[in-house]
Amino acid sequence: MKNYRIGPETNRLEHRALVVDDAKALFELNSHPDVMRFTGEPPLISVAAAEEAITGYTDFDTVGYGRWACVLKETGEVIGFCGLKYLPELDAVDVGYRFLPQYWGQGLATEACAASLEFGFSVLGLEEIIGLVLPGNPASIRVLEKVGMRADGQIDYDGILALRYAIRRQDSVF
Ligand SMILES: CC(C)(COP(=O)(O)OP(=O)(O)OC[C@H]1O[C@@H](n2cnc3c(N)ncnc32)[C@H](O)[C@@H]1OP(=O)(O)O)[C@@H](O)C(=O)NCCC(=O)NCCS
Repeated sequence: MKNYRIGPETNRLEHRALVVDDAKALFELNSHPDVMRFTGEPPLISVAAAEEAITGYTDFDTVGYGRWACVLKETGEVIGFCGLKYLPELDAVDVGYRFLPQYWGQGLATEACAASLEFGFSVLGLEEIIGLVLPGNPASIRVLEKVGMRADGQIDYDGILALRYAIRRQDSVF
């Protein structure tokens, strides 16, 4: 199994697996109430908890791919994450993303999400990629739509009603 700890490069972003040195950046991201509001996840409570989350993240070793840190090329700063995650309970591959609020509204999530889809279809050869989003998160829904994903029902995910978006390889421009 190949290990894709280094992800695609886009105009403004580099993608790579998080390392322990990113703990402060991950804490800033995953403790921000505006970022965590629609994720269904509890916020991180400390930099130490972020370190634990990074060292305990095994997707690259077990599945070969996972969520990458999004590094802003201009500054070298970790400003968010994006990437694919295999969800065994749905037997599906999900694209996910989140960014620090000061970087919202510049097309960065769309840029990163498009790169993840291209990676999933062209490099991994996936047949389908899904996106799960809460109905009250229009910005995220818009990102999924902008990369060509279409609403495909709703699911109960961990007791939360989520919209399921999906795109198949043959329908993708990537
Ligand atoms: C969702 C998120 C990643 C979007 O990041 P971003 O870099 O601002 O996204 P983009 O700039 O690529 O695109 C956002 C789009 O949503 C639109 N948008 C933003 N807020 C909106 C709102 N309240 N209602 C409708 N559309 C909205 C923007 O106008 C833009 O669409 P456009 O290009 O057609 O104008 C960011 O808001 C975020 O990190 N949110 C918190 C974490 C999260 O919710 N992650 C997704 C979980 S499913």
